[in-house]
Amino acid sequence: MPITMSPGQLSRSIGPLHINLDRQSYSLQMLNDFESSQENLRLRDFIDGLFRGAVVNPTEQRAAGHWSLRAAFRRSEYPDFVELTVDGRDELELARTVQAQMNAFVEQVQSGVYTNPDGETYNSVLHLGIGGSDLGPRLLHDVFSRLELPGVHGQLNIRFVANVDFHEMKAALASLNPKRTLVLIASKSFSTKETLHNAQHIFNWLDTAGPAYREKALLAATCKPGKAAEFGIPPARIFEFSETVGGRYSLWGPVSISIRLVHGNAVFDELLAGAACIDNHVLSTRSTDCVPILLALSDFYNLKVGIDSLLLSPYDSRLGMLIPYLQQLWMESLGKGVGIDGVPIPRSTCPILWGDVGTNGQHAFFQLMHQGRNASTVELVAVLKPNHSEAASHRILLSHALAQAEAFSVGRLNSPQEMADPTVNYKSCPGQRPVQMVFLDELTPYSLGALLSLWEHRTCALGAMQNINPFDQWGVELGKVIAEQIEPNLPPGENRAENPITAHLIDHFINRGR
Ligand code: F6P
Repeated sequence: MPITMSPGQLSRSIGPLHINLDRQSYSLQMLNDFESSQENLRLRDFIDGLFRGAVVNPTEQRAAGHWSLRAAFRRSEYPDFVELTVDGRDELELARTVQAQMNAFVEQVQSGVYTNPDGETYNSVLHLGIGGSDLGPRLLHDVFSRLELPGVHGQLNIRFVANVDFHEMKAALASLNPKRTLVLIASKSFSTKETLHNAQHIFNWLDTAGPAYREKALLAATCKPGKAAEFGIPPARIFEFSETVGGRYSLWGPVSISIRLVHGNAVFDELLAGAACIDNHVLSTRSTDCVPILLALSDFYNLKVGIDSLLLSPYDSRLGMLIPYLQQLWMESLGKGVGIDGVPIPRSTCPILWGDVGTNGQHAFFQLMHQGRNASTVELVAVLKPNHSEAASHRILLSHALAQAEAFSVGRLNSPQEMADPTVNYKSCPGQRPVQMVFLDELTPYSLGALLSLWEHRTCALGAMQNINPFDQWGVELGKVIAEQIEPNLPPGENRAENPITAHLIDHFINRGR
């Protein structure tokens, strides 16, 4: 695919972010045509509906209110028409009230006013949750703990347990004291089997310290405060968020109270401010100048020509967790087979997102993209100003990012002399891969907020362009239902599994696994 852009023609900046799409293969004419296309009309309609609280998630008959978690605090940066009312309740007001509740609690813990029954301060937080109730906070902690942040950073330790695989729990508990650990149960639905099973285990663990410890240690982040209270969480420490906030879009609110506890309210507010900056950009910029929409357009055009893979490589080890986080946001949102109208879509609606940090990936799987037949977009992320003074390391790192972008795009064709000898064909790299780069001026809570908000908007925009719903995940439910049916067939139960292959596998487990 020949490149038609001239240098910088498809470079755009917003806040701390800059993108370059010059090495994409679509033409400027295609972009200009997009402004007046059906897809753009649908997209602008979607964005308008999103920020007015319209039902943009029709299969669940809901608005999508993740943005309200930042708009509630940065109200002046949003246009007046922005609102989110659900069944008469103002969800921006809810976000504001709960943020005040979180701020107050976090300050009490950090200042040592909130103590355990012995009057001792808490030194750790255990975060229980899975999927969207885990990946976002885990990413935030992973990044924040590598930044030199002012304030309370480092006062409390944090451990995450997502999986029902008990090895994970065992490893986490090994370093925690049940008398001095706050436990957050993060679950939008408060009905996720893995999380509730783990929570039950933690109740017993807290009780080993004595009955009074459990009561003071428990916190919940959920849309179902009633269920959380029934489960045994004291109502004063249930931090509610709106049903309109999808799990994979929820890191901006109460599920990240654990991050506020460890890194402080001020750091978290910076994250929200960065996210709000991108909301504002999306609301006020025409599509073909809007950074997340341009990225979604690349995805859209590449999908149309059959490129359904997206290799993401951040050239900054502090962003390693970005990949698993984005895999949920991107693929749980866009992995669909039918449009909102129920009509099957005969091609992939979502490039498979995968990758690793650069330069590590270069020495592993990049070879496949240089010379293999698989088609993929390559997206390289680089941070311009590092948080260290080793200029030589940074120069090498950035030179590799730039070199890979050039190599994937330009390739290396054999010289006329080599071409005459087919036995040296192995040297040729065809290039012509669609490559794009995303730059952050510097990695800070603000720029991270902007980057994550950019990805949310890119995800939603790609959904809207294709007329699919980026807010539901019905496919995930099937496995949960089958697991419920299978579990009683495992020991000490009797193997009566209906599916013959499953029954055979259970027999293998019974014979060899015990
Ligand atoms: O099973 C998928 C899913 O519903 C995700 O969308 C969600 O983030 C995760 O499970 C956890 O759900 P909850 O927060 O309700 O426990």
